[in-house]
Amino acid sequence: MTMTYSHTTDKLNRPLRDLRISVIDRCNFRCTYCMPAEVFGDDYPFMPESELLSFAEITTLAEQFAELGVEKIRLTGGEPLLRRNLSSLIEQLATVPGIEDIALTTNGVLLVHQAEKLKKAGLERVNISLDAIDEKVFQKMNGRNFKPDAVLKGIDAALAAGLQVKINMVVKKGENDDQIIPLATYCKERGITLRFIEFMDVGQTNGWDFSHVVTKKEIHDKLTRIAPLVPVEKAYFGEVASRYRYEETDVEVGFISSVSETFCSSCTRARISADGKLFTCLFAEKGHDLRALLRKGYSKEEIKQEIDSIWQKRTDRYSDERTEETVKNRKKIEMSYIGG
Ligand code: GTP
Ligand code: 5AD
Ligand code: SF4
Ligand code: SF4
Repeated sequence: MTMTYSHTTDKLNRPLRDLRISVIDRCNFRCTYCMPAEVFGDDYPFMPESELLSFAEITTLAEQFAELGVEKIRLTGGEPLLRRNLSSLIEQLATVPGIEDIALTTNGVLLVHQAEKLKKAGLERVNISLDAIDEKVFQKMNGRNFKPDAVLKGIDAALAAGLQVKINMVVKKGENDDQIIPLATYCKERGITLRFIEFMDVGQTNGWDFSHVVTKKEIHDKLTRIAPLVPVEKAYFGEVASRYRYEETDVEVGFISSVSETFCSSCTRARISADGKLFTCLFAEKGHDLRALLRKGYSKEEIKQEIDSIWQKRTDRYSDERTEETVKNRKKIEMSYIGG
């Protein structure tokens, strides 16, 4: 809804602008780089439903964040489409003054049934993860034998519903780097933006090592086999992806290079986990318990002041400072918990 609030800023003068809200910590996939099946097995202690923020609680928090300058909300998980009745949350968020953009990050499989309903509720954009077109490579990477076709159908459903679609591919050396050209070709032919994401050292369980990273430069060089790439201006301050278009077309590709070319100096993102903890960095070790404030009956104004004071103290710049030591020694939160 239209309304302009001024942005609160942190210690490094970065405005608060985006809010990523995880709505559930469960997922139907077990991607090797996020929720490896060996760790996230049958007896993994996911959150019970009572721990999750209710839609009313999420909306109350979104209102307070909006008054502090947040304009864009992205729903994440785990897999956000596993949260029952998600479209009714989107309906509520769409009425929050100051929120201009509502988006969702998903693995896409459940879009076949939900895309239309989500769009009607007020969702504008979806980022869909797809790491391979080859069946075997994809099945191995998602850990649950899903075929690429299940995601491709989800992509088609999203497009048919009128949602803007981008595809995210996490590239892991030796696992799916042979899929860069096939996926790029698939997306280029359909005019869909594909973003290549450098494999990151989030969490404690994905066995990350610098040697598994395929850098933006390596991927960029490979893509010139398809066509020369022309840089595209950033659409706004703090955009995560660096964007290019294939020469003589409007089709774009993006790179999210949080290992080889970090972007902390323009990081405008706050994150809320499904149980209501506020994290000021994807690589934070600890969150701030907003759910406790909500459930203890703090007023909206008090909650807003608390969020403001947390943001004003913020100095996070993990990726800028990443070293062998920080990779090893930091007790980082899992991606599925913090919401990516
Ligand atoms: P757009 O609004 O469509 O540009 O979305 P986005 O790229 O911000 O969101 P998406 O959920 O698609 O994230 C793509 C990748 O970027 C994921 O791997 C995220 O974990 C990563 N990412 C997003 N924000 C940050 C960030 O602040 N720091 C780091 N290191 N990675 C981020
Ligand atoms: N490194 C990079 N990206 C990751 N994602 C999940 N785990 C990682 C990781 N270790 C991506 C997902 C999705 C987005 C939310 O985060 O593939 O596109
Ligand atoms: Fe699920 Fe997304 Fe993590 Fe894969 S990356 S396990 S789809 S939350
Ligand atoms: Fe922002 Fe932390 Fe990512 Fe840097 S590492 S861009 S501070 S979330």
